[in-house]
Amino acid sequence: MYACVCFSITEEEIHDEISAGASTEEEIGERCGAGTSCGTCVERLGCLIEEARLRPCVEQTLRACPSACDAAARAGETLAA
Ligand code: FES
Repeated sequence: MYACVCFSITEEEIHDEISAGASTEEEIGERCGAGTSCGTCVERLGCLIEEARLRPCVEQTLRACPSACDAAARAGETLAA
């Protein structure tokens, strides 16, 4: 799925930029151009940054809570090791 239509940049590419150290919408724009044309995708870029920031906390919480792990397993999700 495209995160930025103007530059044909996928969400996966945005995840890669975040993993490589981009932590703001501006840094993502500097690295790959996403968000630097029409700006429609900037809010989505922010959401992807926030999701990446919260992911370790969510995974830690799920690992610490057996009932959450059971719920995740029922939903067919796996927790990162
Ligand atoms: S959709 Fe990303 S700048 Fe236009």
